[in-house]
Amino acid sequence: MSTEENIVIRTEKLVKSFGENHVLKGFDLELNRGENLVVLGKSGSGKSVLIKCMVGLLYPDSGLVSVFGKEIPKLTQLELDELRTKIGFLFQSSALYDSMTVRENLEFPLRRHWMHKTKDEVNELVMEALKNVGLERAVDLMPSELSGGMRKRIGLARTLILKPEIMLYDEPTTGLDPITGREISNLIVAIQEKYHTSSIIITHDMECAKIVANRIMILIDGFKYTVGTYDELVKSDDPKIKPFFA
Ligand SMILES: Nc1ncnc2c1ncn2[C@@H]1O[C@H](COP(=O)(O)OP(=O)(O)OP(=O)(O)O)[C@@H](O)[C@H]1O
Ligand SMILES: [Mg+2]
Repeated sequence: MSTEENIVIRTEKLVKSFGENHVLKGFDLELNRGENLVVLGKSGSGKSVLIKCMVGLLYPDSGLVSVFGKEIPKLTQLELDELRTKIGFLFQSSALYDSMTVRENLEFPLRRHWMHKTKDEVNELVMEALKNVGLERAVDLMPSELSGGMRKRIGLARTLILKPEIMLYDEPTTGLDPITGREISNLIVAIQEKYHTSSIIITHDMECAKIVANRIMILIDGFKYTVGTYDELVKSDDPKIKPFFA
């Protein structure tokens, strides 16, 4: 049910251009509380731009983008920082700090947001986050000692440590082998179930979409083309939808 208080992120007629490059031309999206919404779109169609607008890393040219009912472009830096503590953003590159251990990487977001924690409390949070992604043993490793799949997991653990209400995943399985990709997809579902997070998952990986999505939205030419469940869309004869499921 899409009642107003059930919607945690909304974009309406969202427009974003870079010079002559008109990326989003009036994009409408609603993320319902507790759902996993997958956004599909060709490379360069504006998926990363879309979620960057949601966390105030990019500003739209026009249209609405609101999170928990707050219009992102209207927030002060302080209000934006406060809101961002509720949003976990797993970047496409899952950038870890190479000169810090896994533990230090995980402590980093806590230092900014929860300065009043004791050492024991911080340790507990670090270990809980690592347990969530099945990598407690990696706590003292350096990022250079991790595989690609492990880096993704540690990136995810670092995001989860603030117990976000919203998760934004930008291509969480890209660059991983199918088995590791499937593990990450299952982890996304486990996080949804454990923390009741509301999530947007951007992906090209249809197996990931199939595993995680409650609904799938397709972005074409700057607009929402369609939205439906995996089972609905996979059956479609629409020549614009079929290629995504080929
Ligand atoms: N900061 C920026 N300045 C200028 N152009 C940008 C900027 N960010 C994105 N773009 C442009 O916006 C378009 C959409 O980029 P975006 O990264 O959102 O694509 P995407 O759908 O995420 O693609 P991919 O699947 O390859 O990650 C591209 O043409 C890109 O060059
Ligand atoms: Mg992208």
